Amino acid sequence: MQYAKILGTGSYLPAKRLSNDDLAQIVDTSDEWITTRTGIKFRPIAAENEKTSDLAVVAAQRALADAGMNADEIDLIIVATATPDMQFPATATIVQHKLGIAGCTAFDVQAVCAGFMYALVTANAYIKSNMARKVLVIGAETFSRILDWSDRTTCVLFGDGAGAVVLGASDEPGIIHGKLQADGSYLDLLKVPAQIAGGQICGNPYIEMDGPGVFKFAVKTLAKAAEDVLAEAGCTAEQIDWIVPHQANKRIIGSTAKHLGIGMDKVILTVQDHGNTSAASIPLALDEGIRSGRIVRGQNLLLEGIGGGFAWGAVLLRY
Ligand code: UT7
Repeated sequence: MQYAKILGTGSYLPAKRLSNDDLAQIVDTSDEWITTRTGIKFRPIAAENEKTSDLAVVAAQRALADAGMNADEIDLIIVATATPDMQFPATATIVQHKLGIAGCTAFDVQAVCAGFMYALVTANAYIKSNMARKVLVIGAETFSRILDWSDRTTCVLFGDGAGAVVLGASDEPGIIHGKLQADGSYLDLLKVPAQIAGGQICGNPYIEMDGPGVFKFAVKTLAKAAEDVLAEAGCTAEQIDWIVPHQANKRIIGSTAKHLGIGMDKVILTVQDHGNTSAASIPLALDEGIRSGRIVRGQNLLLEGIGGGFAWGAVLLRY
């Protein structure tokens, strides 16, 4: 059996960090409110001259170094992002060029906070069908650019960053099972409605979110998604060494873990330091878990995430 195995991981966080107290200087909020409701303490913010592709390239270079590979060995680049450098071309092609390579397949995946799940499962399909042997899967975002800094219900939640994984074809697992789902009827709960038309930005170019609506749907859906992936893989929650969840809210993460009967000591939690970095949050947490020595080779990981659309997904893999 052919599997897609993680050969290396890497990540990048911009140097500037905003604390909850910093935000309390900008909007009517407090460290106490943000910490209790979300678990967030800090969020990295990209410098003015840093684009999503810049963050992605550093994470990719670190993942390649971790895998002991050169960029020219890659035959597919997938970038998951909702904050691309430009309307087009795909940020993946910009990343490809900045990595100094050309010729391989490169495209973006847009599933907002579920983007990395969508990218990972797509990469798995490419490897399993022998359309690619070595794949760079990146989640990268500059969400600070689409935040209305006068809206306290959203601007305190998000951060910027990038995480990357190099996947390679292997006889050993690998990605064991992944499942992606979406339901477009929830459009109005979470969106950036703007579009470019006739030389104008039409509509609001900032995040609009019904926080409690998203919260309720996320809790219910992520629990089911995680359960489904385990059941379909013939695996039980006891076999999971680590949950590596999308980092939007500590309470949502805790609720999914509790539903599975898995303690928080088996959850990689980075939301306190990163905030919600959308498509970057899962690969950032994965890299953090590996770099800190908690995630080691041979362990079973459950990755899960949900975002605007809604779009959601979960992946069971052996590191
Ligand atoms: O990646 C997927 C994207 N998003 C998410 O996963 C977000 C999911 N939702 C959430 O995490 C939570 O719903 C939030 C953290 C966004 C909000 O927490 P909540 O417990 O659902 O609070 P709420 O929206 O029901 O607001 C409670 C109160 C309101 O005041 P009133 O109406 O009770 O007087 C808000 O106006 O808290 C107020 N509030 C704030 N107060 C201080 C809202 N934002 C803030 C704030 N600081 N930043």
